[in-house]
Amino acid sequence: MANRMWGGRFATGPAAVMEEINVSIEFDKKLYAQDIRGSQAHARMLVARGIVAPEDGDKILAGLDTILSEIESGAFTFKRELEDIHMNVEARLAELIGPTAGRLHTARSRNDQVATDFRLWVRDTVDHIATQLLDLQLAFAEKAKAHAGVVMPGFTHLQTAQPVTFGHHMLAYVEMFGRDRSRFADARVRMDECPLGAAALAGTSFPIDRHMTAAALGFARPTANSLDTVSDRDFALEAMAAASIAATHLSRFAEELVIWSSAQFQFVKLSDAFTSGSSIMPQKRNPDAAELVRAKTGRIIGGMTALMVVMKGLPLAYQKDMQEDKEQTFDVLESLSLAIAATAGMVRDLEPNVAVLRKAAGSGYSTATDLADWLVRVLGIPFRDAHHVTGRIVAIAAERGITLDKVPLADMQSVHAGITEAVFEVLGVVNSVRSRTSYGGTAPANVSRQARSWLARLAREAARA
Ligand code: ARG
Repeated sequence: MANRMWGGRFATGPAAVMEEINVSIEFDKKLYAQDIRGSQAHARMLVARGIVAPEDGDKILAGLDTILSEIESGAFTFKRELEDIHMNVEARLAELIGPTAGRLHTARSRNDQVATDFRLWVRDTVDHIATQLLDLQLAFAEKAKAHAGVVMPGFTHLQTAQPVTFGHHMLAYVEMFGRDRSRFADARVRMDECPLGAAALAGTSFPIDRHMTAAALGFARPTANSLDTVSDRDFALEAMAAASIAATHLSRFAEELVIWSSAQFQFVKLSDAFTSGSSIMPQKRNPDAAELVRAKTGRIIGGMTALMVVMKGLPLAYQKDMQEDKEQTFDVLESLSLAIAATAGMVRDLEPNVAVLRKAAGSGYSTATDLADWLVRVLGIPFRDAHHVTGRIVAIAAERGITLDKVPLADMQSVHAGITEAVFEVLGVVNSVRSRTSYGGTAPANVSRQARSWLARLAREAARA
């Protein structure tokens, strides 16, 4: 009698449970193209080294081509009982060309095979993400150039701090995504080694040429230690770590969009393409895409964490635990890719509300620092004293409910007799941002120059990619 605990679909007992826990074809079929590429490189090498006869090699290569087109046309039947993509392809090859198919697995194991397939997938995907990040930088740099002189409040603690420019804010993200791109590029350099030929864990007694297969698959070189090779998933972890940091940047921007597009802020208008209406409240325009980008970040960091935890207790070399690497990695990198695409779209469509931003820039006594700096520069008083004088003038403005540039000169002079008419030149938000000309500062001229320089650099890098 079947154990009642198995229940439902496991009614047939242990074999069904084992198949369910062991099977990976539902997700690792995503690696079909990499698996076939890897097998073809391996087959060519076996022939070149005299390990497999040329006519057998030809049959194997042709059979693999047939399988590739069967999978791509949807004619291929993936079988759960064959467990994974490697066995599914190999079994079909045997159906197509007979026992010769068995020669393909000479000097190879599923351990180095899966490491190769998976690394190829991660490398291809990282290349795609790098292109997307570059496009995202371009979108931000274009916005920065278009709105280099648009004044807005800069915040610390989400309290109005000092006026900045919208372009400057956009360029902050160009910097962040530039660092993300370079993190992916660094990870790519380290993952660019070919696992094929490490075999199960110890290497092989066959006279294989690992340099040949590495070159055929576009890797810089073969990996150097067979034990490390079949047990290493650093390439996936590193890509996911870079993805997590990039997602964190996307999430921070998404959060800003949610705040900025609210009725209370109205700093920007998001396009219809990335928002939704409410079914009950006609006035609403919900920033759904931004919210989902923010949420994907949780999922991305979660996926990275999951694989870190899977890996941390594993003795060398390959352990079946490592089969759990794929779903997380696929999901993390695909989620990031989608989040980047959505963000690039939102940025391109984004319209800053210039008048609202300008008004908000002047609220909260945002030019108080300019006043203090003026007292230091023009009257020569120490900054700490200037800070105190400014505080008293801010108190007058607060008491009257006016902005700093509206406080009458006589009232300022009652706080410090040396203050002259000239002070008003620094109390306006436009003059404030214009004065921030230090390297990396928010002055519109700086922002314009930096936006242009980024655009030129990104165009060069896009041409090279
Ligand atoms: N499906 C397996 C995985 O993803 C392939 C490697 C299996 N190797 C083994 N010795 N059972 O890890």
